[in-house]
Amino acid sequence: MTKLINGKEIAQNLRNQLKAEIDSLKSKIGKVPGLAVVQVGNVAASSVYVKAKTKSAKEVGIDVIDHHLSQETSEKDLLELVYKLNNQDNVNGILVQLPLPNHINEQIILDSIHPNKDADGFHPLNVGKLSIASKNDENLLIPCTPYGCLIMLKGLDINLSGMNAIVIGRSNIVGKPMAQLLLKESCTVTVAHSKTKNLEEVCKSADIVVAAVGRPQMVKGGWIKKGAVVIDVGINRIKLNTNGEIKNKLVGDVDFIEAKKNAAAITPVPGGVGPMTIACLLRNTTIAFKNSQKN
Ligand code: GUN
Repeated sequence: MTKLINGKEIAQNLRNQLKAEIDSLKSKIGKVPGLAVVQVGNVAASSVYVKAKTKSAKEVGIDVIDHHLSQETSEKDLLELVYKLNNQDNVNGILVQLPLPNHINEQIILDSIHPNKDADGFHPLNVGKLSIASKNDENLLIPCTPYGCLIMLKGLDINLSGMNAIVIGRSNIVGKPMAQLLLKESCTVTVAHSKTKNLEEVCKSADIVVAAVGRPQMVKGGWIKKGAVVIDVGINRIKLNTNGEIKNKLVGDVDFIEAKKNAAAITPVPGGVGPMTIACLLRNTTIAFKNSQKN
């Protein structure tokens, strides 16, 4: 029987733990973590994510400082806001929702966030620390989606050490940090991308497949080795024609129905990786808050 990895439930457990920790910190030191959430413009998907992140943060007891700026906001004005938040005592984590409008250089903005307040783990210093750090460093700010994937993998009854893992996609947000995390677990990691030759063959040799390409159902069921674990990061909106009726559907980067026939365990879309990303953002914010109390 293929195990369905229930991201909703695992994320709920993590949020419960964080809520208990935040309650206890509040009674001990009289303060709670603060998360600044910055959105520029009105990209529909970003609005959905920001709303979900804000709601979850409030539920675990994190203070949310919301900044929704217009699409026309200049890079300079956004930088000024980030600098202000860097110096604001009630802000422990800063999240600037991506993508930003084309006239703003994303890397300049990500670099401007103070590394200690980097709720996404995207600052070059944190990216560097992730690649150097030993396996059990609990103070690191780690990109949320790949860390969520790792928690799901570690929750399975398998020994990751020595496994062949393929990460499909080389983005800074998911693919590259995912590869670092799997390497730390002593997996043998292949990072595949749009120029990879024989992707199907490489995929067929993998014990763990993490798909993060943003292309609906690109990974076919036949590419999955019998008994492999499949983590599907994709969230793609497609239109389905059912008996002449056009319906919107959310699908992953993996052909779920076919892949499930071969996989030992697989994440669904929705209800897999998505909720884990948000829970890990709350985790990073709590870590940043605890780190700030040590200084
Ligand atoms: N856009 C898509 N995923 C993410 C994420 O994890 N963090 C931020 N800030 N923006 C995103």
